[in-house]
This record gives sequence, structure tokens and C-alpha cells, in this order.
Amino acid sequence: MNRNLALEFVRVTEIAAINSARWMGKGDEKAADQAAVDGMRKMLDSIECDATVVIGEGERDKAPMLFIGEKVGTGKGVKLEIALDPLEGTTICAIGGYNATSVMAIGKENSLLHAPDIYMKKIATGPACRGLIKIEDPMIANLERMAERKRCNISDLTVSILNRERHQELIKETRATGARIQLIGDGDVSSAIATAIPGSGIDLVVGIGGAPEGVIAAAALKCMRGEFQGQLVAIGADQEERAAKMGYEHLDKIYHTSDLASGDVMFVATGVTDGSLLKGVKFRTEGATTHSIVMRSASGTIRNITAEHFFDRKPIY
Ligand code: FBP
Repeated sequence: MNRNLALEFVRVTEIAAINSARWMGKGDEKAADQAAVDGMRKMLDSIECDATVVIGEGERDKAPMLFIGEKVGTGKGVKLEIALDPLEGTTICAIGGYNATSVMAIGKENSLLHAPDIYMKKIATGPACRGLIKIEDPMIANLERMAERKRCNISDLTVSILNRERHQELIKETRATGARIQLIGDGDVSSAIATAIPGSGIDLVVGIGGAPEGVIAAAALKCMRGEFQGQLVAIGADQEERAAKMGYEHLDKIYHTSDLASGDVMFVATGVTDGSLLKGVKFRTEGATTHSIVMRSASGTIRNITAEHFFDRKPIY
């Protein structure tokens, strides 16, 4: 993949972030998401590539735009697969909370897992502890190995977990190890990425979150040389049906980072609201400032891009 493509794709998350940030704190999740989708969809078509959405807004009959299987880009040039979430953290944006982002992972054909829109059990960590985590192990075993590698006590480690009823046992188990916990309302992609950022204060992410977000987070961690493991989980008849429809009959398989995102992948994200990783969109009279991150697994370079946008000099998406 041409390395400049990564810089093309950041335009896409920038527009999605600007559009959805207009809805920050307005209590309307749907409108915020739609604004992000509209911007992302239009900007994608200006990029010279022949791309297919493999993780998107849902199945063709449920999502009018950015549905799974939709073709995006100019249709010319390199064939790509895209996993996207125009607004990761719709609730966060609607309440003006912390860590809403617009995210995309890009790879060549057959590089990203075509995960169904169901749940995924996840464990993720940064490069310092790559090779030490096992999704099937108890928390204590994972944290002991991590503490040894990081030359600290388990009580010095912080684990990020989505604050959900389904995690009550996991939270109890983690507390029993002595580790600190950050319970988050939403946005486990940002938490997973934070494990790979020195000084972020997050060492490990565990728990059940969205499978699509799992693929996107795995692509980011691949670029950052971290580690991600996931196992598909279908909760309820709806999810079971969705999994079966996409050919996922046996959900016990453990997916490692490269099963979820293989080969040369790229990851781009722009902050919508302020967060641990990215600053949110700031508006001024004639434009806005965005903060994005751009990464490629081939080089491992992590670029932080602050962009000043001038609305009178660009089309409104
Ligand atoms: P949305 O962007 O769809 O709002 O997802 C936010 C999120 O918190 C993800 O980060 C996470 O993986 C998933 O939802 C968890 O799902 P649920 O809210 O059903 O527990």
C-alpha cells in the first residue's frame, strides 16, 4: 500500500469528527452518528482506491450508507478493505463525555477479519507486554506476568474495563488481584490504544465489547506492536443469527492480532471529544482544529496530526 494513502485517509476521519462534534452534548446519538457517517461517506469517495467496507455501519438492508460490502473510493487504484466506525462512542458524543473518536483501519484484500456485528471477548496490551497475555487465563496469571515484565507490583497496574452488568464477575476477579481498575462508560478502542502509549496509565484492557471495534483496535495495536486477542461472543438470538448468517458457527476460536488484522495495515483516528489519546474538535469562527493519529504497521511510525481547517476554503461535507 502506498504510504501516502494513510495521509489521505486521515481526511476522512477529520471530516467525520468535525461533523459529529457539532452534536456534542446535544443528547442525540443518532444525529451525531449520522453526521459522522455522511461526512465519512462523501470524503471516502474522493480517495483514489477501490475499497470495500468490511466492518461498517451494519448489514446492507439495515444501513443506508457504509454498510458491510459497500464499495467506496474512486474505484480506481489499489484494492483495499476498510473497517470503520465513523463515531466510536456515540453516547459519549451525545453527553459531551471523554474519548469519542472517528476511526478507520485499512488493509489489502483479505487482511481484516470480516467480523459480524456481535460481541467479542477481548484482552489487549501494549508492546511492553506483548507475548505475555492469554485470553483464556485468569486475570491473576496475566497480571503476574505483566508485573514481572514491567518490574512493578500488580497493584501498580491499571486495567480498563467497560462498566457493564455482564462484567461484574470480571471486575470482582480483577479487584481481587490488587490491580487498579478504570471503569469506562464506552469507547474500548481508545482504551486498547492507550495500553500502547507510554504514560497513558492504562496497562491492560479486558472484557466483552463490540466485535467490529475489536478488529479496529487490533489493527491499531498491530501498528503499535501491541497485542490483541479476541473471541466472538453472541449474546441473544439476534446476535446468534447475525453470526450464523456470516458463516460463524463455532465461536470458540481465539483470534490473535494478526488473525484480526494481517499483513500491512494502516490505522487513522480523529478525536471528536477530548480524550486520553486525542484532543476533541475545537471550533472557531471560520473553521476548526482537529487532532488525529495516523499509523502504519509497515513502518511503525505514529504520526500525531493537528490540522487547522478553514470552512470558507473547502467543500462542506
Ligand atoms: P458505539 O460507537 O456503537 O456507541 O460503541 C461504543 C462502545 O462502547 C464500544 O467502544 C464498545 O466496544 C461497545 O460500545 C460495547 O457495547 P455495549 O454498549 O453494547 O456494551
